[in-house]
Amino acid sequence: MIVLDQENKLITLHTKNTTYQMKVWDYNILLHAYYGPRISGGDLSYLLRCKDRGFSPNPSEAGVDRTFSLDTFPQEYSTCGVGDFRLPSIELELPCGSRTADLRYVDSQVRRGKYSLDGLPAFHGSEGEWETLSITLTDAAAQVDVELLYGVLEEYDVITRAVRVVNRGGSAIRLCSCASLCLDFIRSDLDMITFNGAHVMERCPSRVPLHPGIQGVGSVRGASSHQHNPFVILCGRDADEDHGLCYGAMLLYSGNFQAVAEVDQFENARLVMGINPYQFSWTLEPGEAFTAPEAALVCSPSGFGPMSRQFHRGIRRSLIRDPWGDRRKPVLINHWEATEMYFDADKLAAIAQEAAPLGMELFVMDDGWFGARNDDNAGLGDWFVNEKKLPGGLEALVSRIKGMGLEFGIWIEPEMVNEDSDLYRAHPDWALNVPGRGLSRGRNQLVLDFSRQEVRDHVYGQIKAALSGAGISYIKWDMNRSLTEVWSAALPPERQGEVYHRYVLGVYEFAQRLRADFPDVLIEGCCGGGGRFDGGMLYYTPQIWCSDNTDAIDRLRIQYGTSFCYPVSTMGAHVSAVPNGVTGRITPMETRGVVAMSGTFGYEMDLSKCTTEEKETVRRQTAFFKEHYELIQDGDYYRLSDPFRNGPYTAWEHVSPDRREALASLVTGPFRGAPPFLTLRLKGLDPSLRYRVNGGDSWPGDVLMEVGIPLPILTGDYQALQFYVKAE
Ligand code: GLA
Repeated sequence: MIVLDQENKLITLHTKNTTYQMKVWDYNILLHAYYGPRISGGDLSYLLRCKDRGFSPNPSEAGVDRTFSLDTFPQEYSTCGVGDFRLPSIELELPCGSRTADLRYVDSQVRRGKYSLDGLPAFHGSEGEWETLSITLTDAAAQVDVELLYGVLEEYDVITRAVRVVNRGGSAIRLCSCASLCLDFIRSDLDMITFNGAHVMERCPSRVPLHPGIQGVGSVRGASSHQHNPFVILCGRDADEDHGLCYGAMLLYSGNFQAVAEVDQFENARLVMGINPYQFSWTLEPGEAFTAPEAALVCSPSGFGPMSRQFHRGIRRSLIRDPWGDRRKPVLINHWEATEMYFDADKLAAIAQEAAPLGMELFVMDDGWFGARNDDNAGLGDWFVNEKKLPGGLEALVSRIKGMGLEFGIWIEPEMVNEDSDLYRAHPDWALNVPGRGLSRGRNQLVLDFSRQEVRDHVYGQIKAALSGAGISYIKWDMNRSLTEVWSAALPPERQGEVYHRYVLGVYEFAQRLRADFPDVLIEGCCGGGGRFDGGMLYYTPQIWCSDNTDAIDRLRIQYGTSFCYPVSTMGAHVSAVPNGVTGRITPMETRGVVAMSGTFGYEMDLSKCTTEEKETVRRQTAFFKEHYELIQDGDYYRLSDPFRNGPYTAWEHVSPDRREALASLVTGPFRGAPPFLTLRLKGLDPSLRYRVNGGDSWPGDVLMEVGIPLPILTGDYQALQFYVKAE
């Protein structure tokens, strides 16, 4: 619910469990009054206190009043160069060369439904579910309007934000930064949690207390990155899974981002999140507008668990688009880890042959099917079938695979090119490159200038021609290097600061075209595993390959970190062969299955090499996953333990929305002698119901939650257990 109180100049957003309030203050400056647990109403601007503070200047309209300063008040969208010395949300370069921005409130409007953003991903949904607030601010001297957009998804406590900047003047201006979100707190006793890592070890949480000065994370790699995720949490020092105030902030953006927090001199905190200002600038000609990507907030008064579940529900319901919001996704078999690029049609068929009887539904042909792609030094850019490997082309292979009872999926990497390719030989200028500089190679490939329409059109045309009519039902969209030498031959020198963002807009446009032309095809995002796992890509690709690390034990950590924002139904996870290719670790097939089925679920191995016993395990796993599909994919997710604490086990749980059934999964650590007797305490059950566990003993819900299921002592390392509990 959005309430505009004209008399008291208050703007209040209520969700089911939270309240967010702004106040139009003197001189029409928009201040941030409150964001936290839901309150019944009222004017919280008593929290905004005036005081004459040394070295904190006063706006010109304040005259001799020394108690009002932009430097001391919590701002709704911080300005630049006019008295607030903390992190700016926006920086404008005016025709005179000044880099100031001074924003004053003009008006606000509320309407039912959710705003959308041209060319950018955004939450969406029905008029009944969403409300939109639009606040116009203006910089009169610069003749620039800034529209702050808010979407309220009341049921799931989601508040989205986006920003539109319009040049109303007669000369061009330049945007030097434009954040999506500014969130001020009249406190700083908060921790910041970020999700960090590397290729093959993504999204490991790191929690540090905020301290005076600026701290944060970001990416300058052109993709949201393996190294830092565009999702952060600010929380009370006492916050944990089930207690304490916490704020999650997610940016729906797949390129350079930053999320930075500052603690100021008066022990207030500010979080600013948006496109990374690194090498960014954007020229706005008279009348032109710039839209900053959407950010989404969830505040939870009772810990990370409820916060994550609200993000999960919101993402499943309002970010993932039809038909994949509700449609069941297939259990897949991918041959990559089994063969890499060294395959032909017969080898693929031999793997696929085994898959349908074991319960798999989709065969994915990964990298290596096109051009002269016999290793990773050639072929990218040439999206036509390599008939030496696949005689008769895609059609022949697809019909062979379909004959085995499987759907067919295919891998592409549209943004990339190898120097050894027909595409590069014809258009060397299409790769990002700075004139006069050498080219940095990554995996011996270059990045195509996706900011250019003709480059995208060409690649799209090739891919569309290859896939059209071939009977494909899944696409894996990969992106296997970071951007360097970011310069576009299509833009003048003064617009080179736009290339990173135009590249991302190009990726989104390409994705939108794929969706439009192949509306029933499931697209899985990928970036060397999880290097572009963000809300922006999820709008186009309802699932994303979580990591190139398929080791079940490392995956416990990767999937745990990922789960703070993103639902299980978005996390690409497969069972692979052992010893694992990344870690060399050997884990039981049972364990690998339990971990992978807490994701989109599939296999990535040569099934023809499995023993009869292993095949039987695989068959049981796929049957079990399909039986509990709704519970796992659409249920509420509970983290029962933290795998980074090296406890005796890692456990998690899926609970049905009506709380009548749950599935708890557990993986033990390395075995040690004289093990203690342990129990597994569940969460989220109805304390007054009685539940039967794995069809055997039954206990009341409160006993299962307060005391727990007695665990058998399992010898051997990394063993797995699952407990399916159902109300009687
Ligand atoms: C990336 C992906 C892998 C695989 C290879 C193919 O690393 O993450 O799953 O598709 O590329 O080259």
